[in-house]
This record gives sequence, C-alpha cells and structure tokens, in this order.
Amino acid sequence: MTCEDSCLETDDEDCRLTTRRLVLRQARMSDAPEIATHANDLQIAQMTSRIPHPYGLDDARAFLGAARDELIVAITRRADDRFLGLCSLAASPTPGAAELGYWIGRPFWGNGYATEAAQAAIDYGFAVLELSAIEVRCRVINTGSRRVIQKCGFGYVGTGLSTSLVAGRVASETYRMDRRTWQSLKSWQTPE
Ligand SMILES: CC(C)(COP(=O)(O)OP(=O)(O)OC[C@H]1O[C@@H](n2cnc3c(N)ncnc32)[C@H](O)[C@@H]1OP(=O)(O)O)[C@@H](O)C(=O)NCCC(=O)NCCS
Repeated sequence: MTCEDSCLETDDEDCRLTTRRLVLRQARMSDAPEIATHANDLQIAQMTSRIPHPYGLDDARAFLGAARDELIVAITRRADDRFLGLCSLAASPTPGAAELGYWIGRPFWGNGYATEAAQAAIDYGFAVLELSAIEVRCRVINTGSRRVIQKCGFGYVGTGLSTSLVAGRVASETYRMDRRTWQSLKSWQTPE
C-alpha cells in the first residue's frame, strides 16, 4: 500500500493530509531521531505489537528502511511542524481491508491528536485507497486507545490474543469499520 497516485494533497513530492491542527505525511529517514526519542518509552512499547524496548536510532532506521506493504505516516503539528507520532495503514488478511495503527509521543498525549490523526487516516483509507474496511486492535488494558477507537466510530468485533514484542501474548480487542458505516458517519450532519 503506497501513497503514490492516491494523495489527497501533494506537496514537495510528499503525500500530505492536512487536518485542523495536523499534517500527516509519509514518514522519512530524517524522522528517525524523533521516532527513536519518543518510541523509547515502555508505555508505548507495551501497548504496541512491534516496538521493542529499549528502542534506539538503529531500530528507527531499520523500521523506516524495511520494505513492507504498509503506509507509514508521520503525524506532525501544523503550527510548528513538531513531530508528534506515527500512524500506519497495513495490509490486513481480510481482502480489501487494512489495519490501522498509531502512537503519539508521551509529551503530546491528551490533546486529541491521536483521534484527529486516526480520523484523517480513516478518511484517506476509504476515500483514496478505496478500502472495504478498516480494522484496529488494542490491548484490553489500553483505555486511551479504546477511547480513540470509539471516537472514530469503530464497532467492536471481539476479544482474543495478540502478540507484543515487549509484553508477549496479550488479550486484545478487535474493532472494525466497514465502508458503509464510514459513509454513514460522514453524512451524519445536522441539516442547515
Ligand atoms: C493511546 C494514544 C494513541 C492516545 O493518544 P492521544 O493523542 O492522547 O489520544 P486522544 O487525546 O485523541 O484521545 C485519548 C482519549 O482517551 C482518554 N484516556 C486516556 N487515558 C485514559 C485512561 N487511563 N482512562 C480513561 N480515559 C483515558 C482521554 O481522556 C481521551 O478521551 P476524551 O477525548 O473522551 O477525553 C497514546 O496514549 C499512545 O500513543 N499510547 C501508547 C501507544 C498506543 O497505545 N497506541 C495504540 C495501540 S492500539
């Protein structure tokens, strides 16, 4: 899954999604130091599947350099271009669907940034990539992420086991939004 030929807005050869407070653009190697700084946090690693701990610059470079069927997006703040975190849309085993992932650096938690970024990624996934569904998983103990998922409008699918590099086999909840639900959410407005 790539940004090529499917950008909502193109600028400087970057794919950019612009929201009220954020710019989401394809992650690049120059983001590695910021990624390493913020991802080297046990509270982030233990809530995600693939972040080891400790996490250093070489880990960030290897992550960015690995070829994979996934869109990795840097979440930055419009006002000052500050790097806030990462968001991803990865190929899902379900044909036509993708799996959403995200983390925000701890200094920036509690400002609604994850929700704003996730909503932009969802719009991109359905409007531009023409996905049939988007899935997202969070650990059962991840109250903050569950709240993000709820605020985006996902529906609960079920609870099962998933794997975290740091935490091992963990109980996690799966949520899903199909295309029709997204279309309905987008048209759910008060008539003028
Ligand atoms: C989960 C995470 C992405 C949230 O980022 P964020 O930018 O703070 O998220 P938002 O501000 O958009 O929304 C967080 C919501 O969770 C709520 N929340 C956070 N921690 C909570 C807690 N312990 N109990 C109850 N609610 C909590 C917030 O109040 C907010 O809801 P509200 O807007 O209704 O008040 C961030 O904490 C993070 O990166 N955590 C580690 C990695 C991770 O969990 N990634 C997701 C993997 S599924």
